[in-house]
Amino acid sequence: MKRDLTVNLGNLLLSLSEITDIANPSIAQHQYRTAFIALEIAKNANASPQMLKNIFTAALLHDIGAISIEEKAALHSFVEMDYDLHCIRGEMLFARTPWLKPLAKIIRYHHRNWCNWDAPISDPTVFSAQVILLADFIERSIDKGKYILHQNEEITERVIELKDTVLHPELLDCFKDLAKKEEFWLDLLSPRLYSILLHEGPFQKIWIGGGGIATIAMLFSNIIDFKSPYTATHTSGVAACAEKLSALFGLTDLEVTLMKIAGYFHDLGKLVIPNSILEKPDKLTPAEFAIIKSHTYYTYFVLSSIGGLEPIARWAAYHHEKLDGSGYPFHCKANEIDSGARIMAVADIFTAIAEDRPYRAGMSKEAIYKVIRGQSDHNLLDAKFVDLLFDNYDEVYAYVREKQQTARSFYEDQFSNAANTGDS
Ligand SMILES: [Fe+2]
Ligand SMILES: [Fe+2]
Ligand SMILES: [Fe+2]
Repeated sequence: MKRDLTVNLGNLLLSLSEITDIANPSIAQHQYRTAFIALEIAKNANASPQMLKNIFTAALLHDIGAISIEEKAALHSFVEMDYDLHCIRGEMLFARTPWLKPLAKIIRYHHRNWCNWDAPISDPTVFSAQVILLADFIERSIDKGKYILHQNEEITERVIELKDTVLHPELLDCFKDLAKKEEFWLDLLSPRLYSILLHEGPFQKIWIGGGGIATIAMLFSNIIDFKSPYTATHTSGVAACAEKLSALFGLTDLEVTLMKIAGYFHDLGKLVIPNSILEKPDKLTPAEFAIIKSHTYYTYFVLSSIGGLEPIARWAAYHHEKLDGSGYPFHCKANEIDSGARIMAVADIFTAIAEDRPYRAGMSKEAIYKVIRGQSDHNLLDAKFVDLLFDNYDEVYAYVREKQQTARSFYEDQFSNAANTGDS
């Protein structure tokens, strides 16, 4: 296992931003393109380096509060709908993430029209929120089936019509300058956009360590869990269980932190699965289960593209693999599943059957033992870690429950009631 961990912040944010847009071709790259447009407009407006970082980060994650693929697709399509809900939820998610807290108001107001602000455009929050509103509008206006230089003038005209009401005139002047350059539009639709943002974005030289990664992983664990009330505390429980079992197994402090991060990320790929399948109360059809099987593929797909997170990618993404090779989707053999992944598999199944779901109560200790011991007896789970769990059952159970309770309080008291707390 690794002795130290650092990742490039741009690499981390770009890869994670992609997972929320990957599921539906109509929204693919929406946040990348919005971030690119926002960054270029802000540069044209001579924004400070710190402001560029803030705008880039907020734009890359601006729709984080849209919790289902269905909601994201609707937001993208200019249909009449309640835009406030995803802004309020996004604000809440940012506000509980220390490093992103100062950007929470930008997310809250990224759909607020200029005429509804009573603060000046020189206010950093107003300016940033207006830049993202403009960038989001431009991105959604692009007809993806048409060559970009055959539509850029029309898009520019549509944007200029928003002057004074929706957008501040100074911002539109910056955009008009930018819109003259074919290069801007060609970059925007370039298949190389990821690498442009990575190498020319504001984070190309910024690296973060385990604590910073854990903060962002926790944010994503909330997004994964809050997609559905059925699983609103699952990830918090798996992360806590993986953390506890690795500590009891005698891993170092750093390794325990990495396992907690892997736990937060283990179901990252569920962000690609439609809620209609995730929330189906009946047994899944084979066709639906085939879609579910992709979730750990996407967990791996995203995490393995973040330089430095390769072991975490395996520990997170192999939680449905079995020691006899019968798991999914990688069908790893026992020698390909290391201790971290074996612990995660035990943590996932234990948490899933121990936790209450809206449609059933959590299992008793005896029933949990029967299921999990049955799996190790059949060479599906590693007996060593099953023993570790049951030798320390009360301690592990109490720790998992405590962490899940914290997540549930936030979810029930604030997040799921977000629709009633808005002030527009
Ligand atoms: Fe939005
Ligand atoms: Fe958006
Ligand atoms: Fe899973």
